[in-house]
Amino acid sequence: MKKDQWIMGIETSCDETAVAIIKNGREIAANIVASQIESHKRFGGVVPEIASRHHVEQITIVLEEAMKQAGISYGDLDAIAVTEGPGLVGALLIGVNAAKAIAFAHSIPLVGVHHIAGHIYANRLVAEMKFPLLSLVVSGGHTELVYMKEHGHFEVIGETRDDAAGEAYDKVARTLNLPYPGGPHIDRLAHNGEPKIELPRAWLEEDSYDFSFSGLKSAVINVIHNAEQRGDKIAPEDLAASFQASVIDVLVTKTVKAAKAYEVKQVVLAGGVAANTGLRTALEESFKELPDIELIIPPLSLCTDNAAMIAAAGSVLFEKGKRADLALNASPGLDITIHN
Ligand code: KG4
Ligand code: ZN
Repeated sequence: MKKDQWIMGIETSCDETAVAIIKNGREIAANIVASQIESHKRFGGVVPEIASRHHVEQITIVLEEAMKQAGISYGDLDAIAVTEGPGLVGALLIGVNAAKAIAFAHSIPLVGVHHIAGHIYANRLVAEMKFPLLSLVVSGGHTELVYMKEHGHFEVIGETRDDAAGEAYDKVARTLNLPYPGGPHIDRLAHNGEPKIELPRAWLEEDSYDFSFSGLKSAVINVIHNAEQRGDKIAPEDLAASFQASVIDVLVTKTVKAAKAYEVKQVVLAGGVAANTGLRTALEESFKELPDIELIIPPLSLCTDNAAMIAAAGSVLFEKGKRADLALNASPGLDITIHN
């Protein structure tokens, strides 16, 4: 009988200290996330030094909790997968060093994982992946369409030329005086408003799968300023609904177009903005019309940063023979295309 495979995932690239343990690549045995959002809220965004300090304080506690929840010992682990980049260098270093310390102390193989590969592989915890596959990656730092012809192969066919979708959400939220991170607040407001304010959609060149959200963000700010100057009142619900409609329109239209052009079997949603209820519904509606393409949308807990997704990607890369040694370093600008 084949022995079970146990992989530990460690994620500290931004403001969540997370450790997870998964069995046979797809079963979650433990998934612990310590969020620092409360500490960063009053600054309106993530403060790198504060993030690093929290990771140092939390990592051992989170590690112990994950091991306890999974009910295994270090000797049972087949590999430790850790986010090596991209992200905040000081934050990444805490996870990388923790992973190296455990790998060294218990002679366990180490696997470096790209953060976005992790977001994409969160989907493997939901359904088996079918190739060729297209992933729409929408997070606080990334907006990308990633084509995968097989496991571990990542080709970025479109990306944002300025702000990431999550970044645009957070900036617009700030102008509406909503707390950080603003995405969930805009999402909630949007449901109580009407998309009746005309806002631009950046389609870019006819054949481009790239995105651009900075013009939309500026348009929202202009609408607010113009209304203030005229002494008019704009319902924040309507502004949120109009902004959300514009973001979703572009994301969904380009995803559908790319899915058809690349003749993919599956489309998977990834990243923190994948928690957006409007985006989830719009994608479901569009792919209902395309029954040959399976759409996978992970549950909310697997969309935002977590370590189960890092372990899921690590499991596949480990099977493919990828290994890191104790010289593994944090790579804040790591490129996904050369990482597999
Ligand atoms: O993937 P993630 O947890 O961290 C990064 O790797 O960036 O994504 C965080 C981003 C934030 O910008 C946050 O505002 C956004 O995801 N977000 C949302 C929603 N929930 C989180 N954006 C829109 N609607 C949501 N419901
Ligand atoms: Zn992320």
